[in-house]
Amino acid sequence: MSLDGVKAAYELLKNSGDVSGAVKKAINTVEDNPEFSSVGYGGLPNREGDVELDAAYMDGSTGYYGGILGAKGIANPIDAAIELSKRHMNCLLSGTGAEHFARLQGFRFQNMLTRESKKRWEEELAKEREQLPGAYRGHDTVCVIAAREKHIAAGVSTSGLFMKDPGRIGDSPIVGAGLYADSAVGAASATGVGEDIIRGCLSYEVVRLMEQGRPAQEACKEALAAYLARMSRKGFTPKDVSLIALGADGSFGGATNLKDGDFTFVYADETHPAAVWTIAGGVQKLQGPA
Ligand code: GLY
Repeated sequence: MSLDGVKAAYELLKNSGDVSGAVKKAINTVEDNPEFSSVGYGGLPNREGDVELDAAYMDGSTGYYGGILGAKGIANPIDAAIELSKRHMNCLLSGTGAEHFARLQGFRFQNMLTRESKKRWEEELAKEREQLPGAYRGHDTVCVIAAREKHIAAGVSTSGLFMKDPGRIGDSPIVGAGLYADSAVGAASATGVGEDIIRGCLSYEVVRLMEQGRPAQEACKEALAAYLARMSRKGFTPKDVSLIALGADGSFGGATNLKDGDFTFVYADETHPAAVWTIAGGVQKLQGPA
């Protein structure tokens, strides 16, 4: 879902060197497209039929981060997160507080529920009348890492888990879980079941391993394997966790425990035009574009 966004963001980065602008560009492109039904406009509604948005941004040079949690109607949640990341205090705002901040900043508001997302919600409610509700109804997150010279940053945006309880927050806006960035080391971001990712502090773990010298792909594999082993010792099997990372050394990669197929992400640099790369689930092998 981020191919067009990364293409546009890469051009911006090349021409302006603006790392936060590149993260914003890539994520806005996904947020604005109602066909991507788990982020921004047309996102997945909660149990009450409301689209509640989580987003965050971390600047790896200042170490500052900003995020909004469970906010409604902010057309581009990542813009509010980037603005909040310029603050030391009061940088993580939830619900009406986040909405108030976005209004004061003049950010655009809109009804995030499209006809299609409302229909999907109504169909799911009808199904639930016939069966016990499950905890897991699908989700997706746009995670973007941008780097220019010695500056690395990461951003994420999502409407979170489909049919979540009102007020439920996933991993995405939680620094260390959904994203982490340190310009001297690299950045990582996670997608999957937020509750499980938070338990592993997975994005921080990947950056910590890169700090110990692992290239990005190795760090993702090792962080995921250690986490799965840790959870297994507790008798729990996480369902759906995927990681991406970019090292300050220029290495990049990912890892996934997806059972049904591979995990894909988009990568671009001076020698690689923006294209879809794949992590083959199970073997965690990084494959370039076909
Ligand atoms: N990873 C997105 C969420 O669980 O909300």
